[in-house]
Amino acid sequence: MADVKTQKSLKISSIETLTPFYIPFFSVKIAEWERKKERLLSMVDWNNSSAIENDHFTDYHLNIKNGCPYREQFENVLSEELQVFADHIKTNLVLKEIWAQRYHKEKHMVAHTHGSKGFSCVLYAEFDPSQHKATTFMAPFNNFINDDTLYFTPEVTEGTIIIFPSMLPHYAVPNTSSIPRTIFSLNMDTVVVQNNG
Ligand SMILES: [Fe+2]
Repeated sequence: MADVKTQKSLKISSIETLTPFYIPFFSVKIAEWERKKERLLSMVDWNNSSAIENDHFTDYHLNIKNGCPYREQFENVLSEELQVFADHIKTNLVLKEIWAQRYHKEKHMVAHTHGSKGFSCVLYAEFDPSQHKATTFMAPFNNFINDDTLYFTPEVTEGTIIIFPSMLPHYAVPNTSSIPRTIFSLNMDTVVVQNNG
């Protein structure tokens, strides 16, 4: 006769929460930040008029069109941090687009995504937590009880990289400070490490 498992008789009903899906965020603190900050900021031609629109610097479109001129340096400076992430999620990384943005007073970024797969990063390169706000992310679903949109704005300090699924909508609120807020951004694909052992 088959072994039939039956539930033990309960005196009171029970309930548990099952959370089979989640949205991962990763926060990486850059080692030797002051030295790397100087190197990262020196890679970008911040006075390039082709990358400045209405006092807002972004070399995104230039780098998409021409390739990122500081790709190799960027990868070298951040090789340790990128490896930490790759090891953490047990994949190899393929870096795609890299760009920089500098937000002067009142400048902001509307809600957008970076595609439907892979991970993206925001590296806070000039960031004063007393003056600036980090990126705000929106969940791809609403609060199941009251239908509210779900927002997440991580607490960050300068020299932090926030890594998130590229498909997540996010935006930057206007910089209310006269101190510029500068970020680097990066899109990457992941390649599962083959285990031949
Ligand atoms: Fe973005």
